[in-house]
Amino acid sequence: MKVRSRWSLAAGIVALAALVATGSATARVSVHKADVQVCALLPDTKSSTRYTLFDAPYLKAAFKKAGVSAQVLNAQGDAQRQKSQADGCLAAGAKVILLDELTLASGAAITNDAVAQGATVIDYDRIVPGSKASYYVSFDNVKVGKLMGQGLVAALRANGMYSKHPVIAELNGGIQDNNAKLFKQGYDSVLNPLYKKGVFKKAVAGDQWTDWDPNKGLTIFEQMLARNGNRIDGVLAANDGLAGAVISALQNHGLKPIPVTGQDATPTGVQYILAGWQSGTVYKSVRQEANAAAQAAIDVLNGKPVKTNGKISGMPSILLTPKWVTKANYKLLFQEGFVKRSQVCVGKYAQYCK
Ligand code: BGC
Repeated sequence: MKVRSRWSLAAGIVALAALVATGSATARVSVHKADVQVCALLPDTKSSTRYTLFDAPYLKAAFKKAGVSAQVLNAQGDAQRQKSQADGCLAAGAKVILLDELTLASGAAITNDAVAQGATVIDYDRIVPGSKASYYVSFDNVKVGKLMGQGLVAALRANGMYSKHPVIAELNGGIQDNNAKLFKQGYDSVLNPLYKKGVFKKAVAGDQWTDWDPNKGLTIFEQMLARNGNRIDGVLAANDGLAGAVISALQNHGLKPIPVTGQDATPTGVQYILAGWQSGTVYKSVRQEANAAAQAAIDVLNGKPVKTNGKISGMPSILLTPKWVTKANYKLLFQEGFVKRSQVCVGKYAQYCK
């Protein structure tokens, strides 16, 4: 018995590793049911450094602490691969899938297959509206957007541009990500009334979706600069990756810093804040998010009710509260151990960390 279960465990790990490595959609293995209890499927590593720096380590730590065997996999931006990873997880016996989707269609397909095989899906950070997932764990994403809109307004007041009809550009996230729509709903609730009253002007071709791709963001922002004769006075960039793209375009053109927003409280974002190139970033404690999602998964495994505090698209949800971080309060990130001083206060940025 002992020998057999050890063999099964080894086989499961090898099978899962093979699936992850090849990304094969067809490979199927039959392994001992309890080899993997939970899988967390993360979307990519390029749209934000959060997945590598925050989500993966916090999720792994939470499951390890609870003694739950979990796999945390990243699809590298490939929806097909995410589907294969889900198939591999189910084949290895996973009973709960934490899903951070790449496309709404692939997210729904993963969820349908998982539920058909008796597993529970918890939407992690991004929801697939109308899917068969049982729970959603995320932040109040409209609030995330509002914080960015208000942060941009505050920065335009602080640099004196608010009263000079500033020209604003919006770099939105990915249209396949429901969060990106909620963020936009949030920041547009702040900005639209100001456009309407003529206090702010939207740049020509100044409101575009980027697929959360910083390279696309760079190209789009370069075009915005060209269309507006370089006169853009503030940018609503929907995350730190897009803010970084805007900042490199400004620097490439020898332009001065302007108010630019961000999200994720990444080390690079914080460095730009300290150096005066980025106005602020939305800090979402991914530690809280990962812990809440892991707890929900563990409750499901144990047949216990999951404690929720809201509903999004009809799905019982755990929604956490985001915070706006600027030069004035960035030390909070060090205090909470979210970002390390050694990740931020290095090289030419050390001088700002006094
Ligand atoms: C997440 C953000 C992230 C973006 C790009 C969104 O769904 O909530 O934190 O920056 O995707 O990956």
